[in-house]
Amino acid sequence: MRIIRKPADLRRRVHQAKRRGKSIGFVPTMGALHAGHLSLIRHARRDTGLVVVSLFVNPIQFNNRADLRSYPHTLARDARLAFQAGADLLFVPSAREIYPSDFQTFIEVTRLSRRWEGKLRPGHFRGVTTVVAKLFNLVQPDVAYFGQKDAQQARIVRQMIQDLSFDIRLEVLPTVREPDGLAMSSRNRRLPSEARRGAPVLFQSLQEGKRLIEWGLRRETAILRRMRQVIRQVPGVRIEYIAVVDPESLEPLRIVKGRALLLLAVRMGKTRLMDCCEVR
Ligand code: PAJ
Repeated sequence: MRIIRKPADLRRRVHQAKRRGKSIGFVPTMGALHAGHLSLIRHARRDTGLVVVSLFVNPIQFNNRADLRSYPHTLARDARLAFQAGADLLFVPSAREIYPSDFQTFIEVTRLSRRWEGKLRPGHFRGVTTVVAKLFNLVQPDVAYFGQKDAQQARIVRQMIQDLSFDIRLEVLPTVREPDGLAMSSRNRRLPSEARRGAPVLFQSLQEGKRLIEWGLRRETAILRRMRQVIRQVPGVRIEYIAVVDPESLEPLRIVKGRALLLLAVRMGKTRLMDCCEVR
C-alpha cells in the first residue's frame, strides 16, 4: 500500500490501473478507522481491482470548531489497518490541496439535506457533498462504498450521483456494531465509562421499533412512544431526534406501509450518538 498526498500522483496511479483494465473501488473516510470502515475496505477489495481509501478530516462539514479540533488523528495506525484490510492507495491530502485559498464552489443536495442531521448541523451535508464530489473527481472510481450507519448521508450521496450524472455505482453496507449492539463510531472513544454502558440503548430502541413494525404496528406515534420508553430506561440520554421515515424521501411516515427507516440521534453528556435501522 502507498500513502499518497498529491492529487496529481493519485491521478497518475489511477490512470495506470485503469489502462491495465482494473476497476477502481473507493472508500472515503475521515480516519480514526474502526471495524465499520474496515468492512467497507474489505468489500472494495473483494469487488474491485484497485482499492483507494481517502483519509481527510473535512473542515467544511464541521459546524462546530471544538468538534473539528478534537477529531482524532491517528495516521500511522490508520495506515496499518487500511493496509491489512486490503487498501492499495491511501490518499491523505492536505486541507490546502483540497481547498486552495480561492476555492468557491459548493455542491448542495437541497431537500434531502434539510431534515434530521442537516437541521441540527447547518451546512454539514453541503460540506459532505462538496468534498465527496471533489474526491469522486480525483479518484474516478467505478464503485464507491458508504456505510448505512450514516443513512441520510448515503441517501444524499446517491441523489448527488444521480443528479450530477457521476458514472459511479454506490454500495451501501450494513452497520458494524460492538458485541452489545453499539454502532462503531470514532466518537465512541469519547464516552465516559458510565455513558458507554448505557449507549447500547440506542440499538435496543431501534430493535424494539423494528420488532413492533414487523408484528404489524403501523402508527408512527405508537412506534415512537415505545422507542422513547426504551431510551428513557437509561438516565442522562437526551433525544435530539427520533423518527420513522420513508427511506427514499426521508420524510416522516405517519403510517408505515412498505419499507421504513428508523432514525435516532441522542446526546449523552458531551457526546452525540446516531444510529438507524431499516425495516422491510
Ligand atoms: P467517516 O465518519 O470516517 O465514515 C466513513 C464511512 O464509514 C462512511 O461511509 C460511514 O457511513 C462509514 N461508517 C462509519 N461507521 C460505520 C459503521 N459502524 N459500520 C459501517 N460503516 C460505517 O462519513 C464520513 O467519514 C465523511 O462524511 C466522508 C463521507 C468521508 C466525507 O468527508
